[in-house]
Amino acid sequence: MDTERIDQIIDKHHGEASSLIQVLLEIQREHHWLPREVLWRIAEKLAVPFSRIQHIATFYKAFSLVPKGRHEVHVCMGTACHVRGASRVLDKVQESIGIKPGETDLELKFSLETVNCLGCCALGPVMEIDHKTHGKLSPAKAAKVIGTYE
Ligand code: FES
Repeated sequence: MDTERIDQIIDKHHGEASSLIQVLLEIQREHHWLPREVLWRIAEKLAVPFSRIQHIATFYKAFSLVPKGRHEVHVCMGTACHVRGASRVLDKVQESIGIKPGETDLELKFSLETVNCLGCCALGPVMEIDHKTHGKLSPAKAAKVIGTYE
């Protein structure tokens, strides 16, 4: 992510320190992670201590300090999904994208995580990709959905 783009995002918020979380969220959304040099740039431009930014970036789950894939896949392993075959769905997703939960593929295309409930248990088994919910999954349907992402 180039410095010019980071500056544009910061300037959009009038360079106010109170917009720190908003700035971090926008950069995370666009770049999929927060490199250290980006955090330093934000600290400098917003005149906020680097340690404070680092604390926020590590505290909230929405932020990542390591590279993430363009698509974030969350497979629900909660009870309602589990009893409807979430484990088999997860196995198929892992096989389709070649990574395990907590990992990102080398092409930075997908990151995979498991979660305990996505709040739509009636649709189980469920997975979410980039905040879009895919429900009533079978292993085959999950693989088909994964295949639609570039
Ligand atoms: S247990 Fe999977 S959505 Fe609630």
